[in-house]
Formats: sequence, structure tokens, C-alpha cells
Amino acid sequence: MTEKKTFYITTPIYYPSDKLHIGHAYTTVASDAMTRYKKQRGYDAYFLTGTDEHGQKIQQRAQEAGKTPQEFVDGIVSGIKELWQLLDIQYDDFIRTTDERHVKVVQDIFKKIYEKGDIYKSEYSGWYCTPCETFFTERQLAEGHTCPDCGRPVEVAHEESYFFEMSKYADRWLEFIEANPDFIQPETRRNEMISFVKQGLEDLCVSRTTFDWGIPVPIDSKHVIYVWFDALTNYISALGYGTDDDSKFRKYWPADIHLMAKDIIRFHAIIWPIILMAADIPLPKKVVAHGWLLMQDGKMSKSKGNVVDPVILAEKYGVDAIRFFLLREMAYGMDANYSEEALVNCINIDLANDYGNLLSRTTAMIEKFLGGVITPGTEGTEFDAELIELAAATPENMARYMDKLDAANAISEIWKLVNKANKYVDAAAPWALNKAGETEKLKTVMYNLAEVLRQVTILISPVMPHIADRVWEQLGLTAETAGSDWTALEWGKLPAGTRIKRGEPLFPRIEWEKQQAAPAEQPTPAAPAEAAKAAEAAAEIAPLKPEITIEDFEKIDLRVCKVLTAEKIKKADKLLKLTVSLGNEERTVVSGIAQHYTPEELIGKQLVIVANLKPAKLRGVESRGMILAASCGDTLQVIEAPCDILPGGTVR
Ligand code: MSP
Repeated sequence: MTEKKTFYITTPIYYPSDKLHIGHAYTTVASDAMTRYKKQRGYDAYFLTGTDEHGQKIQQRAQEAGKTPQEFVDGIVSGIKELWQLLDIQYDDFIRTTDERHVKVVQDIFKKIYEKGDIYKSEYSGWYCTPCETFFTERQLAEGHTCPDCGRPVEVAHEESYFFEMSKYADRWLEFIEANPDFIQPETRRNEMISFVKQGLEDLCVSRTTFDWGIPVPIDSKHVIYVWFDALTNYISALGYGTDDDSKFRKYWPADIHLMAKDIIRFHAIIWPIILMAADIPLPKKVVAHGWLLMQDGKMSKSKGNVVDPVILAEKYGVDAIRFFLLREMAYGMDANYSEEALVNCINIDLANDYGNLLSRTTAMIEKFLGGVITPGTEGTEFDAELIELAAATPENMARYMDKLDAANAISEIWKLVNKANKYVDAAAPWALNKAGETEKLKTVMYNLAEVLRQVTILISPVMPHIADRVWEQLGLTAETAGSDWTALEWGKLPAGTRIKRGEPLFPRIEWEKQQAAPAEQPTPAAPAEAAKAAEAAAEIAPLKPEITIEDFEKIDLRVCKVLTAEKIKKADKLLKLTVSLGNEERTVVSGIAQHYTPEELIGKQLVIVANLKPAKLRGVESRGMILAASCGDTLQVIEAPCDILPGGTVR
């Protein structure tokens, strides 16, 4: 049997000084999705994360908390592990820089470089940013003696130190980058790093004496090793480099990807490779920097006090949705703006409308038209080939992006297939095939839709690990019958004769406006007298109209319709022009709801329309039908039809 190809990916190791926020979670979710994706493709993938526990910052925080540094970090590390568990992060190893296995390797590498003559003792005189644990020269500082990275004040540092002669390696580093143009990704970061090195590399201070929470310098116990020299080494200490059991190191090193945010690329793309060069260890294959998650006032960070807690978000919206949103939202190498509203929009549009609704429609029609059984028919339709071709091309289209860790575009490729399938429903019109008795064609259409759903679900499950089980249940499949890796992506692997089992919507729509308007806490029920008063004040109940017979009522044709487009009508404050689908036709309706809904809020909604109302012209626009709404006093709300009743369905 041939050995599987290996894939080794790392995240930065996190400072256990505070609770992690959703910005931190991005790197870990992206690495986890990448690992799962590689496993799906048959790789022996290995994913490392961990915590960076030494240094001045941690020592200070521990002092403030009245704890020893070890007690302090122990308390926080368990919370970080719980967070990763909650977010479904399947790491293969979690390294702590206080682990004995790590300490020994760091000391050995320091000693090796010292003995080679590339580490020497001298005097450091300059500036230090404790939150970033970074040395700066006067020239590098920002205005007012502040840190150029985080903007906080820096401190003078003047102490005896060991220096790593990085300057000696500048040419070798530049040659390496030249020969390996993909080493630093994306290209903008590569260019930044090259120009940084070309400006002249200074030797790096690699030991401190003004505090003691660190790994002792092996040849001089008065010093502790600089926290970044210590931390970067985790990527190989975790693999057992230089120990009696270095089998993992031999198997997985060099790393395929070190992933991090752009603020710490310099440590990974310059300092770390030069440490490795000096220690005669092969360099990693790629260093990839993603952007930041931004809030309105800039980078999400504890120092700004603008952090979002992933635990609260996951409880409110579910882990799959959070993971999907993070990866969908951050374009490759760019910053992304975070807002809860953007998250809700992403859930409502991509997950509820596109993906969830495709499953609901498909299972609803299979049940209604075919007694719940998925079996391809002996005849097809003219729309099948395009759908099947796109399904066949999607894995490679997606892989082109995912392989370089561009998850946002990888998801877009999968969503092209989801959208195509939704359009296929409208074009192939299974309800019309059913009506016309074209059973063989109908069976094929429904099989194709279920098959696309199966393939999309396999492709998206590295991003949303829980989704597959939920979809398989509704499609009547299991992990075995549906398949879970790329070998299952062959068209037609959905077993004929599968019996579906309809279920709850995958992602119920979230009413953002209502959620915002709702009081923070559940109101306590009003006392009877108060309730009566409130009812009296609120209700301007219109008097009842004269009785009608059932025959009168039956003349009204009420139908489910889906809003496709919506726009305001010029100079008409109250009117919106909507295009709605009734399944087998589209029509324009003018509705007096503009003061209660924005056009965007209506798109995608399923409403109820009086379909046989005589057309009328309103502000020059011909309206064919009337949208039903409930109103009381100033409040008005459209009547929404359940999303799994197809457009055109009757309302009785
Ligand atoms: N301990 C160092 C890394 C050492 S790796 C050898 C460190 N830790 S950290 O906890 O401060 O940050 C870990 C990662 O989270 C970094 O890549 C950092 O840039 C990232 N992020 C922190 N805030 C972020 C956002 N708002 N958005 C995206 N990533 C963010 O640095």
C-alpha cells in the first residue's frame, strides 16, 4: 500500500492572558476546515495549535491576578481548550510552551546556534512593547514613542542580552525568497517582507534579564530566552524534533502551512526561517497571512475593548453558522468587517434561503410527488446536463481556492452549484412535470436535486462539520451511504430507492429587526388590569364587514408567492413594486407596505397573494394581485407562508 501524502498546518500559539475573541477564532477555524478538507482528499493531515505561555506580559498579568504565572496560565488554557471544543476544532496536538517537551527543544536549539557562533552576548538598549513582546529601535517607533503595531506606549529597555546575528543571514533569506516565490502569501505580504529585509536586518535580542518567567538560557541561567524565539520553536518541538522519538518530525516537517494574521507575519516569514537556517533545519513550505476581523473602530482586540465572545455567538446562532460566516466573510488576505447584522444576513441568505431552502423544497416535492422515494427516472430534461456538468467541475473549482487557503472563494464555488440547483428547480418546474404526468422526467429532476445536495453537503462539511448528519437524516442517508470524502463525489452515488425523511429547516430565518426591537429580557406577563388597558390603547379594531357565503369566499384565489425583486416607487412613499413568482409565472404587484418594510427585507420571503384580483394601475404600474398583510393601529406585517410550501401553492 502506498503511504498517504502528509499535510502539516499550524496556527499561532495563543497568549493565555485573556479570553480569546472571535478574531482569534478565525485562524483556528480556517486551519481546522483546511485540515478536514485535506483529510477528505486522502491526506494524512496534522493540525497543531497551542498556547504561548512565557514572557513579561504573562508575568505581569499573573501578578495583577495575585497568582503564580503557572497557576495563572493553567486557569486560562483550560478555557481555550473548551472554546476549541465548542467550535469543533479537531486539532491533532495542543502544545504549551511550558510543556517539558518544548522547553528542552528550545534550549537545545539556542545552544546549537550559540555554539555555532551566531548568538553572542552584548548590551541591549532600545524600546520594548510588552503587549506585543517586541523590541523596537528608535527609528521604528510610531509618533509619541508608541508601538508601531498596536499603538500603545513602549518602555525603555536597557539590559545585558544575548543577540542572534540575524544580519548575517539577510542575503541567504533574500535568495531563498527569490527561489521560492510562493513562500510568503499573499503577494502583498511577500513584498512587504522583502522591503523590510532590504532596509537592513538588525541582530535580534534573544534573552531578557529583567523578569524570570521564561525558559532559562542553557548557558547562562541569569537570562530567560526571548518569548518569540521560544514560541516559534513550538512548530517543531511538538513534533519531537531532536528527541529520542522524532518520528513525527520526520513524517510531517517541513510544515505545509503556517497560518496567522498579518500582524505577526514578520516573526514567521523572517525571524523563524532565519532561526531554522542557523540551526540547519529545513524551512517550512508556506507562510500565509490573513487579514483582521474589524469592528467599526478598527481591529477587534482586547485593548480596544471591542471584542465579540465566540461562546455567546455560538450559543445564539450555532457553531456551523459561525464557522461558515467567518470563512465566507473574510476575503483572501483582506480585512473583514464584523457585525452581528452581517452574520444574520449571511445566515438568512446563504444558509436559510439558498442551502436550507433547497433541501426543504427538494424533500417537500419528493414526498408530495413521488411518495418520498428518490429514484432516477428513465427520461431527463433539457436542463439536466448543465447542472450535472457544474457538479462535476465544482470540486476542482473549489480546490483551486481552498488549496491556497482562500476559503471565501472556495465557498463561493460551492454556492454557485447551490444557486444553479435552485435555478434548476425553477427551470425544470417539477410541479408542472407532475401535473403533466411526466413521471420519468420528474423522478430524474428530483434525483438530480438530491444528488446535488449530497455533493454540496460533502464539500461544505469541512466548514460546517455538523451539517452532514442533519442533511443525511432528511435525505434518508447515513454517513456510509452518502459518503464523506472525495471518492464519494462521483455523480450518481446516491443510492436509488432512498426514502427521504422530512425534517425541520436546516437554518430557520432570523428576524433581525424583531430581534433588535425585542427587549433584552423576557417581559413578565402584564397584570390583568394593565393588560386590559394596553389592549384598549393599542387596538383600533375595525368593525366587522357583512357576512359572506362560502361560495363568496371560494371566489378568492389565495396563493403562496415568493418575492424575487422589490423596489420603491418614485414619489410614492407608501408603495413598493414587487416581482413575485407563483411557481409557473412571474408577475408584478404593487403593495402599500413601503413604510413598514425595506425592499431588501422582502426579497426571498414567501407571502400570500390574492391571485385573481382584477389588475389595477397604481402610479403608472400595473399591479396583478394583492399581497396580504395583518394590521392593527400603526403596526402592519405581511402574512408569511411557510417556506416549504412551493410558490403557487394554494391558501385556504
Ligand atoms: N503568541 C503570539 C503568537 C506566537 S506564534 C509562534 C500571538 N498570540 S495572540 O494570542 O496575540 O494572537 C494569535 C493570533 O490571533 C495572531 O495571528 C493574531 O494576529 C490573531 N488575531 C488577533 N486578533 C485578531 C483579529 N481581530 N482578527 C484576526 N486575527 C486576529 O500573537
